[in-house]
Amino acid sequence: MSSGPAVAGPEHCCSRLGAVQIAVLNGVNLDALAERDPALYGGIGLGELETQIYAWAREMDCTARCFQTNYEGQFVDWCHEVRRWAGGVIVNPGAWTHYSYAIRDAIELFSVHVVEVHLSNIEQREEWRRHSVLADVVGHRIIGKGPEGYKEALEWLAESS
Ligand code: DQA
Repeated sequence: MSSGPAVAGPEHCCSRLGAVQIAVLNGVNLDALAERDPALYGGIGLGELETQIYAWAREMDCTARCFQTNYEGQFVDWCHEVRRWAGGVIVNPGAWTHYSYAIRDAIELFSVHVVEVHLSNIEQREEWRRHSVLADVVGHRIIGKGPEGYKEALEWLAESS
């Protein structure tokens, strides 16, 4: 689902009463995942990734709601909005990771656990990708594990939230 809270319906999320509610915020260019280098990004599309995330969430005692945007302000707005209900947050801001102090500031406002996920191993890519401005304001980081990184993030949040 490449959309926000207003259009998130039950068919697009895995929800259970009393379960930990996890927001998954994907950022810029992750809507084009299927067209990006499969060796780096796992060769799956965003829809498939989100379907997988909902299935993993169902297996754990948690609820997931996925969001994606190419607009930095929208990403910041969603950070603010999900603070009202999320018990844990997964973020992959894409290229914003490397320079967006606006997103860093928004993430710093969370009082719940936040996990930074990257499909590719940003620490072994170009110099400019090795730095994350989020690294010291998140609770946990999962890098270079492909789509499975989101599963690990859900597990970490389900255990620690
Ligand atoms: C990414 C890594 C970023 O450097 C890149 O700009 C992305 C995706 C990842 O998931 O590996 O868009 O966040």
